[in-house]
Amino acid sequence: MEIDGRTRICGLIGNPVEHTLSPLIHNTLAQRFGHNLVYVPFPVERGRIVEAIAGASALRLLGLNVTVPYKGDVIPCLQEVDPLAASIGAVNTLVAVPGGFKGYNTDMDGLYRAMMAEHIQIADEEIILLGAGGASRAVAYLCAVKGAKKVYLLNRTLEKAQKVAEEVNSSSGREVIFPVALAEFDSLPDRKFLAIQGTSVGLAPHVEDVVIADEKFYARIHTGFDLIYSPWETRFMKLVKANGGRACNGLKMLLYQGIIAYELWNGVEVSEEAADMVYERLKAYFL
Ligand code: ATR
Repeated sequence: MEIDGRTRICGLIGNPVEHTLSPLIHNTLAQRFGHNLVYVPFPVERGRIVEAIAGASALRLLGLNVTVPYKGDVIPCLQEVDPLAASIGAVNTLVAVPGGFKGYNTDMDGLYRAMMAEHIQIADEEIILLGAGGASRAVAYLCAVKGAKKVYLLNRTLEKAQKVAEEVNSSSGREVIFPVALAEFDSLPDRKFLAIQGTSVGLAPHVEDVVIADEKFYARIHTGFDLIYSPWETRFMKLVKANGGRACNGLKMLLYQGIIAYELWNGVEVSEEAADMVYERLKAYFL
């Protein structure tokens, strides 16, 4: 791509940002659409997020993605926050508006689109969700608003699961999240579930770690979706497969959160064919 006087800039702010795959997603899309746009990582030092957003606005960046640890901290720096992002309490995409940026959360729609692409249904499903951190809280909210029948929120610390359940049930207006202590998984109804792994347990380099190691748990899972994509196959996924279930990693979630951000920045719709092309490029990093 030729950089010239009209090139627009998008990027990622976070700390660290060195291992991000987002430039690959957005620069591939820009090339495919013929958009005069480049996407670059911007490491932002702790305590300098306010300056970073003011600077990005002054430089008229087209948009930004936001990653750890700024997904919550960035909110007070914005002109406007999309209601979904406000309910989740986390913003991962900023779109330029007069005077600053509007914040969105494309992680959850990204997960939803990834699940649709894998033909995994949320509506009317009974779901097990592992973990009660920021990512799981957002997944719980997604499940609630997309019509899950029941979500058993399993967490090592029961109090945290109770807190997330209360918050999500109240903000979604449905009694759908049921907190359960991890050690009590045997008390779940005797049936097969969709299970979503929403913790960072098992993330490289700790690839042998898993939230629940007991094989009995995996006999209850028909499909396991891990939000992690590095390693390509987590121990959670291996255990699901070894017990007859289907397993997916989080790479398509990464892909679609990026695609939705790209769509917001450029006012275009990314076709499934273009999505597949980007996915193949992403996959090449792992296989
Ligand atoms: P976030 O999504 O906010 O980034 P995270 O740090 O990736 O959060 O994951 C936090 C979640 O992983 C929590 O649910 C945590 O359980 P506790 O609430 O009991 O701390 C869970 N978690 C982390 N390490 C764990 C482990 N070794 N076994 C079980 N759960 C664990």
